[in-house]
Amino acid sequence: MDTVSKIKSRTVEVLKKHRMKVEEERLNRFIERISIIPIDEIPEEHFELLVIENLTIGESYFFRDKKTFEKLKSILKSKPKWNILSIGCSKGEEVYSTSIIAKEMSVEYNILGIDVNHQRIEEAINGCYRFWSIRFLSEHEIEKYFVKYEDKYCIKDEYKENTSFKVCNIGNCSALMNMKFDIIFIRRVFIYLDNVEKVLNIILNLLNDDGYSVIGSGEYFPEIYNYFEQVFDDTSAILRKIKHVKTKEKKGNLPPESIKKPEKILKDVDKNSSKIISSEPQKIPKISEKITNIVKSQNFEEELRLIEHMIENKLYDESYKKIESLAKKYPTEHLVWKYKSLIEYELSMFEKAFDSIKKAMFLNHYDEEVWQLKHLLERLGRKK
Ligand SMILES: C[S@@+](CC[C@H](N)C(=O)[O-])C[C@H]1O[C@@H](n2cnc3c(N)ncnc32)[C@H](O)[C@@H]1O
Repeated sequence: MDTVSKIKSRTVEVLKKHRMKVEEERLNRFIERISIIPIDEIPEEHFELLVIENLTIGESYFFRDKKTFEKLKSILKSKPKWNILSIGCSKGEEVYSTSIIAKEMSVEYNILGIDVNHQRIEEAINGCYRFWSIRFLSEHEIEKYFVKYEDKYCIKDEYKENTSFKVCNIGNCSALMNMKFDIIFIRRVFIYLDNVEKVLNIILNLLNDDGYSVIGSGEYFPEIYNYFEQVFDDTSAILRKIKHVKTKEKKGNLPPESIKKPEKILKDVDKNSSKIISSEPQKIPKISEKITNIVKSQNFEEELRLIEHMIENKLYDESYKKIESLAKKYPTEHLVWKYKSLIEYELSMFEKAFDSIKKAMFLNHYDEEVWQLKHLLERLGRKK
């Protein structure tokens, strides 16, 4: 076996072991990068770490999906004490955002964040972030929740209280044995798992009766609706465990009411989704079209995820080349223009960033983040 095939087969083994899915392009880039290292000299555990550190994407930021956090406030009001788990917590942004709202609601809480990526958990414990992670917060919020040390923003100690973190793979996390939670976040993690059903069963067993699960805004996995029901009419991100459901029992993948209604699909998808972006906002897709769109958009999504990864690693020049070619290929996708604007902002190309954000707004004026970015750019414009 040649070196590249050897690395590929060892990498695939690690991915299988951790039940992780990685798009082909990223896998090949990784293999190409590490093929300069003599593979036989890398001990198994180091190799495993190398794969996990390099092939998981940790893009996250404070109060991602603002609406979800707003809705959570009304849930938190309903009882005085909460035990919360964040699966795939990345560098802790989701955990601390929840801690902030729980503290503001004056409820008692414990939040545990787990992630398969060792380095991210260390950063979560540390709680200090680049501006990138807090980019959508107002100046007032930044001042209220963070202390600035050099170029980092560190979460204030009071929001670290009652939070803890662990390196763990949700597929085999023994640390969670005998634990029960009232809310489990699993946002933008299912896409990395090769066995959604198995993880859903794990989540169900970890949740108290009447417990809630929170997924990413715009994420759609039909299997979830075998066990969970939508709580709010206007967001499908917060789900409640269906009472008396047996974990292994199948109910025939019935989508919730709101997903059966075409108007609802259009609203949810256009407003929040990073999965499906309609270039014809007036058209109301049927459920079958929605599923076809998910399949069709996979390559596009993979390309976007690669760009997210590059941005996170501050590879702005490289990501800019990629986003420029994506803008030519998908000129009517608002997410492309949104990311282009973000990169231009990082590269201090403010005029271009304005042009791009205007295009993103034209294509989808419901996207909350586009508005936030526009305000950020305006704020900078005023300061200049
Ligand atoms: C895109 S980030 C999402 C972060 C955050 N939940 C959010 O939505 O902003 C996905 C995270 O899931 C983690 N992850 C992937 N597979 C996992 C697994 N099997 N168990 C635990 N964490 C996992 C990755 O390391 C990464 O940090």
